Amino acid sequence: MTTNRYRDLRAFKPCTLGALSLKNRITMAPMTRRMAPKDGIPTESIINYYRRRAAGGTALIISEGTFIDSKHAHDSFSVPRFETEAQWEGWKKVAEAVHKEGSAFVPQLWHIGRRAIDPIGPSISQAPPQIDGRIGPIVRKMTAEDFVQVTESYVTAAKAAQSIGCDAIEIHGAHGYLLDSFLSSATNHRTDQYGGTLENRMRFPLAIVQAVRKAVGSKLPLIFRTSQWRADDFEEVKFPTPAEFKTWVNALAKAGINILHISTRRVTDPAFPLDDPHLTLAGWARKLSHLPVIGVGSTCTSITLENYKSNNNEPDRVTDPMPQLSLIESGEIDLLAIGRSFIANPDWVKKVHSGKWQALKPFHKEMLSTL
Ligand SMILES: Cc1cc2nc3c(=O)[nH]c(=O)nc-3n(C[C@H](O)[C@H](O)[C@H](O)COP(=O)(O)O)c2cc1C
Repeated sequence: MTTNRYRDLRAFKPCTLGALSLKNRITMAPMTRRMAPKDGIPTESIINYYRRRAAGGTALIISEGTFIDSKHAHDSFSVPRFETEAQWEGWKKVAEAVHKEGSAFVPQLWHIGRRAIDPIGPSISQAPPQIDGRIGPIVRKMTAEDFVQVTESYVTAAKAAQSIGCDAIEIHGAHGYLLDSFLSSATNHRTDQYGGTLENRMRFPLAIVQAVRKAVGSKLPLIFRTSQWRADDFEEVKFPTPAEFKTWVNALAKAGINILHISTRRVTDPAFPLDDPHLTLAGWARKLSHLPVIGVGSTCTSITLENYKSNNNEPDRVTDPMPQLSLIESGEIDLLAIGRSFIANPDWVKKVHSGKWQALKPFHKEMLSTL
């Protein structure tokens, strides 16, 4: 008889992170599927999509990115939104379905900024290609009124998430979208208090965190997703040294963030190998900020995110999740988020916990359109 090396792992034991009590340490990563109806209200099939992943054992479900307004935050009406009473009512049903399975539900609040149909950003620039591949319009530089409008949209969405019983909120601050575009000196060329030094580039994302924290009070956990890379430049390095990264993660902690979601393409990669040959970016975030962290990237998949995005048709091969689960075991990260392998395997937790990771299905793109 073979022993199950996965059964007693810390990853599958209950844990408490501040106000968040979880049945294990496995999280569903936010994943846009573009399957929402035009009105942006989660349908019965979207509710079931999340319910099935909760029933499969996932402790924490982070929703696909949800647009916080239909003014400048969105790139199409196929992505669900978090803007109106009717949409909140739909998300309430998702949260209730997930709760019934004993899991926690967190909406990801998303402003797409430079990629919007009517794009806004820190500076005038050429927008990245749109979702249909067409050249994007010119990005409009945000005015004082835009700062107010975007802040109000975040605050409204956050308060709504709290009122419908979500367990936390995730602010999407990664991948080159609005908040991240302020951090990056490649997209932020402002010469006012929002551009130039790192301190200035952090100012707007931090103002959003502070406004949301003020609006929801001190108890609701706030998660912030951040990354070195952005969707139109996988090689971008926003924080070349641990010192700069420390400034950022500590500022997020001070502004009211409780959990950092560190978005990397391979969670196990060392982040600053000259300083430490092994420590991952999520590990650095934890060490520098003393906040709990979620790590993510390339669990149970042989295809890197950049290859998946570049339409490479190489077939996926399921890989052993032990290297990623070991990061939880050693205490380097608190939670592990899983993306593509969860699309393919709603019952990921059950399978891996019972030692049967080889029975997982490989991910392929067509699965995104099936529920
Ligand atoms: C189809 C797809 C949609 C995604 N949508 C989002 C999103 O809405 N918000 C976000 O922060 N990340 C998004 N991501 C990134 C994932 O959350 C995750 O970080 C990434 O897929 C790496 O994890 P994995 O290797 O386990 O798939 C998306 C990734 C994929 C593959």
